[in-house]
Amino acid sequence: MISNIIDGRESAQILKNNIKKEVSILKNQHDISPKIAVLLVGDDQASNIYVSAKEKQAKEVGIDSIKIKLNKNITQNDLILEIKKLNIDDSINAILVQLPLPKHIDPNEIIFSIDPKKDVDGFHIENVGKLTIGGYNKNKNSIIIPCTALGCAHLIEKIEKNISGKNILIIGSSNIVGMPLSRLLMAKKATVTIANSATKNLKFLCQNSEIIISATGVVNLITKDMVNKNHIIIDVGINRINLKDGKTKLVGDVDFDNIYPIVRAITPVPGGVGPMTIAYLLKNCLELFKNQNNIDIVTKYER
Ligand code: GUN
Repeated sequence: MISNIIDGRESAQILKNNIKKEVSILKNQHDISPKIAVLLVGDDQASNIYVSAKEKQAKEVGIDSIKIKLNKNITQNDLILEIKKLNIDDSINAILVQLPLPKHIDPNEIIFSIDPKKDVDGFHIENVGKLTIGGYNKNKNSIIIPCTALGCAHLIEKIEKNISGKNILIIGSSNIVGMPLSRLLMAKKATVTIANSATKNLKFLCQNSEIIISATGVVNLITKDMVNKNHIIIDVGINRINLKDGKTKLVGDVDFDNIYPIVRAITPVPGGVGPMTIAYLLKNCLELFKNQNNIDIVTKYER
C-alpha cells in the first residue's frame, strides 16, 4: 500500500488477533465465551451485508453470535419486547440493533430499551453520559464507546501518537460518530471543531486544521483545494455511486484520487475506517463480557 494511505484492514487484523488471544485465554481459564445478539429489522441490503460481516468476524475471534431477523412491519413495542428478552437472557453479553430502523420506529426508544450493561454500540444514554462527563467509572468497568469513534481515534494515533494541542475538524455531528469522537479527542486535549450541513466556511475550517474527519455521506465534499501536505484525513463516508458502465462503486466523502498524492496521510474507502468499526465492535463485546463477569485486564494489546 502507498505509504501515506492508512491501512485500516491491517490495524483491524492486529486488533482482532489480540481479541482472539484474549477470548481464548478466557475460554481456557473460565470455560466461557462472549456472545452477541444482532437484531436486523427488515431487508435493507446494506444492513444485511454489514450484519453478515459482523457475524463472520465474531466467529473468527471466538465470539458466539445469534442473528434475529425481524419483519420490517414489526411494531416498536414488539421490538422492545424482543430486546427485553435478550436483556434478561444470561447467555447473551451484548445486544446490537442494526440501524437504520424502519421509519415507524423511534431509534432512541429502541436504544434506551437495551440494558446499558449489554449496549455494545455505546449508544445508550447511560454510556453516552459516562463518556461525556469523563472519568466516571465507579465499578472500574470499561466504559463502552461507539466503535466507529474508537476506530477513527485509533487510525489517527497510528499517524500522530500525541494529538494534544492539535486542531481537529470533525464534519458531521451524529451520535454514532461525530459526537462521541469529539469527546474522545477532547479527552486527549485536542482542539476540536464540529461542522455540520449548515456550516458556511468549510474550506477555511479545513485549511485551519491539521486533522480532518468527514462523516457526512456527501460524495466529494472534501476537495483538493481544501487540503495541504500536513493534513491527516479520516474518511468515514460510505457511499455507493453509479459508474458510466452501469456498475457501482463504494466511495467516501473525500475526492480520494486527487487528494491522496497531496496529504500527509489518508484513509481509503473501502479498507479504512470500516474494518476498524467491526474490530472495535468485537472489542466492545469482549469488554461487556468482562464487565459482567468482573474480569480485569487479561492481556496487554499490541498495536
Ligand atoms: N448502522 C451504521 N453504523 C452502525 C453502528 O455503528 N451500529 C449500529 N447498531 N448500526 C449501525
